[in-house]
Amino acid sequence: MDLYEYQARDLFEKYGVPVLPGIVADTPDEVKAASEKLGGVTVVKAQVKTGGRGKAGGVKVAKTPDDAYQAAQAILGLDIKGHIVKRVMVAGGANIAREFYFSVLLDRANRSYLSLASVEGGMEIEQLAVEKPEALARIEVDPLTGIDEAKAAEIAKAAGFEDELLPKVTPVITKLYEVYKGEDATLVEVNPLVLTAEGEIIALDGKVTLDDNAAFRHPEHEALEDKAAADPLEAKAKQHDLNYVKLDGEVGIIGNGAGLVMSTLDVVAYAGEKHGGVKPANFLDIGGGASAEIMAAGLDVILGDPQVKSVFVNVFGGITSCVAVANGIVKALEILGAEANKPLVVRLDGNQVEEGRAILSSANHPLVTLATTMDDGADKAAELASR
Ligand SMILES: Nc1ncnc2c1ncn2[C@@H]1O[C@H](COP(=O)(O)OP(=O)(O)O)[C@@H](O)[C@H]1O
Ligand SMILES: [Mg+2]
Repeated sequence: MDLYEYQARDLFEKYGVPVLPGIVADTPDEVKAASEKLGGVTVVKAQVKTGGRGKAGGVKVAKTPDDAYQAAQAILGLDIKGHIVKRVMVAGGANIAREFYFSVLLDRANRSYLSLASVEGGMEIEQLAVEKPEALARIEVDPLTGIDEAKAAEIAKAAGFEDELLPKVTPVITKLYEVYKGEDATLVEVNPLVLTAEGEIIALDGKVTLDDNAAFRHPEHEALEDKAAADPLEAKAKQHDLNYVKLDGEVGIIGNGAGLVMSTLDVVAYAGEKHGGVKPANFLDIGGGASAEIMAAGLDVILGDPQVKSVFVNVFGGITSCVAVANGIVKALEILGAEANKPLVVRLDGNQVEEGRAILSSANHPLVTLATTMDDGADKAAELASR
């Protein structure tokens, strides 16, 4: 989960990373009030989950509360790379002397952590990496030892920080690492990390990505989720602990096990070429226990997608036998009743496959077609979707 800048700011503050005061606001009036409360120069900042807000006109300096009101009028409703601004943060204004860059992230390819840092901050890091790769230090961070004072100094030196800045910068780097570790993040990025005219180091912008796989360790992270912005089907799937990803096509897919679901997507896409180019509508892995409730929840999510024209259920019975899966499908259709209104192609194989198929045959549901092989099922489902 990516966080908004104001949420990252709050986390930074909690860990003692120096930040400026910030107040979120949803209307120009609230912005004016926030600016009055903060006093002095403030900066009105669009809260959208994308970078480059400054360049897009989403960050404006305001000398007075009336300026802030006007800035809010200009920023609220702005489209920044497809994200409409609904909320801004009114932040204290920094007297910037220099802008730096710092990040720590999960380096999947090297099964390690990686810290990137540069004394040339401010511009987009992708641009810096291309135009001046020598200015960007890349330091591997051992997850077992993390970033202590010594490691922070190594990173800061490699990034080009002068010796006299090290005592100021290294504590900020270690605290940012504490955020990364303590919150189970996969990214903590500060661009810019600034040196103010008064000689202070401050995190002026913050980008944090939390690891959803660690959500069970952080019940407090749920409150950070932007429920209004989430895809309603994905939200529903999440409620039921289903692994669901919406795609663009017309054939709904349900399978058990990520590998089987992935190959089902391929097979359906391939079969779809013969049927007017229909494609998979989603990825949905119902996991090991295909109970009636899980099957019903999965079908409910998929049938709720108006783009779906047919559904292909492709299950391999292992520990959960095909009997349980077949009963699950029959009961799920009962539970859904009239909401189940699109044709279903079911292919079962594996443990107790004959018994499972027999259950579906005798239920003889008008929407269900049985397929014997995966190719066969994919072809039928694609054909039904193309009608
Ligand atoms: N609180 C602030 N005070 C003064 N200048 C700011 C402040 N916040 C941002 N800026 C300036 O605006 C630029 C862009 O803001 P930033 O928060 O980095 O957004 P983005 O990365 O999305 O463009 C910064 O590089 C900095 O120069
Ligand atoms: Mg930035």
